[in-house]
Amino acid sequence: MAAVQEMARLQRVLFELEREFLRTATTLIYRVGEPELKYLLCQHVWESAGHARFLRERGREMAGFGNGEDVRPEIRRLFTEAILPEDADVALAGFYGAIKPALLHAYRHYLSATHHLADWPSRKLVEEFIGDEERHAREIVAFQKDSPAAAEWTQHLGAIIAAGGGLLGERTRIPLPTDFIWLSDRRTYRHPETCKRGRYPTCSSVFSYDADETPIVRPWLVDPATDARVIRIMVYVWLMMEMDAVDYLATVFLDTPNAPFDLHHDLARHLWDESRHSAFGYRQLPKLGVDLTTVEHSLDLYNILVQMPPHERYAMMTMEFEAGSFPTKALVMDRIRELNDFEADTLLAFDRNDEQNHVRYGHRWLPEMMALFGETRPVEEFVKATQAHFKTMAERFGGRTPHGLPAERRLTGNKIKALVGIA
Ligand SMILES: [Fe+2]
Ligand SMILES: [Fe+2]
Repeated sequence: MAAVQEMARLQRVLFELEREFLRTATTLIYRVGEPELKYLLCQHVWESAGHARFLRERGREMAGFGNGEDVRPEIRRLFTEAILPEDADVALAGFYGAIKPALLHAYRHYLSATHHLADWPSRKLVEEFIGDEERHAREIVAFQKDSPAAAEWTQHLGAIIAAGGGLLGERTRIPLPTDFIWLSDRRTYRHPETCKRGRYPTCSSVFSYDADETPIVRPWLVDPATDARVIRIMVYVWLMMEMDAVDYLATVFLDTPNAPFDLHHDLARHLWDESRHSAFGYRQLPKLGVDLTTVEHSLDLYNILVQMPPHERYAMMTMEFEAGSFPTKALVMDRIRELNDFEADTLLAFDRNDEQNHVRYGHRWLPEMMALFGETRPVEEFVKATQAHFKTMAERFGGRTPHGLPAERRLTGNKIKALVGIA
């Protein structure tokens, strides 16, 4: 069985690498500003979660894969190091210039080392993953920014990988230089107090009761007298602002290092869903004549939630924001149908379907996340207390981002009316 055990050992390492990638590469998401890059990272993280799950499934069919899901310390140390650059572009360079190429090399090694017929089930998976990794490398190119710091950091991580002889020990080991300094010996990572939105203007919230202040005017969403075309633009802004959810949900992975893998798998799916919902708005608004540089991005939810522990973040997300959004969204969907806009109907239908899954994830995983943090109250009681905590935190950390644009330049409810041709 030595041959099987050796291949299972390699699969186990690959599983741990993909697992750790999603725990740590998610820290890039709220630190980079460009929406398209956030979307791409969410997609790559989701694909990595898929790789990890398939590896675990196949690995467990083979003797020697092991039952647990723990990540060995050397792998954890590499990824803990990888998140430390303060400049997100530099951190991105490390992930995509050092770690991902080494991972691709490791998959190629697996393919060359295994028996094509005996290990056919693994081979098919690994071929698939190699295709994904090659595509990831192509997809990220447009977002990579070369700099001396990026090159130096890529080399730094490369040296760590080389010291292990590649990620699978498939290459000759090159010992670390004697003057090598681990950044993780000197500092620890902290989530930034606020998230980035690149070249887009920011604000505290896109929701209000004032049609001259924000694009989404709460009473208009549910008022039967509101023009459906106005509702369509408002709901696309709402969807685009699910970028909030992308940014704060991305913080939860790193903060739950001991979560079962299936929890991170479902969080990765949740994250990717939210990024798609945000892209619905981001891609459709310009088609309706909205200049995206006039749409402010709201930062309140990230700013408030990052101050709360991860299980409270997740509780607010699934049990409050998502569970609470259905009645209004149902009304909105009815109104949109008046427009015979098949694409809008489709996007909203998928959004609703995804959101139902998210609430389901919440019911499944919130108790487990609470347990990770020693929270023993019944879920309902914990959620109530968290809602109250959120209120006090919102008073302290919310409402602090001033409008990035003067009223005459930003998209507001009244501007939306003008845009669709009603005064
Ligand atoms: Fe969503
Ligand atoms: Fe959601």
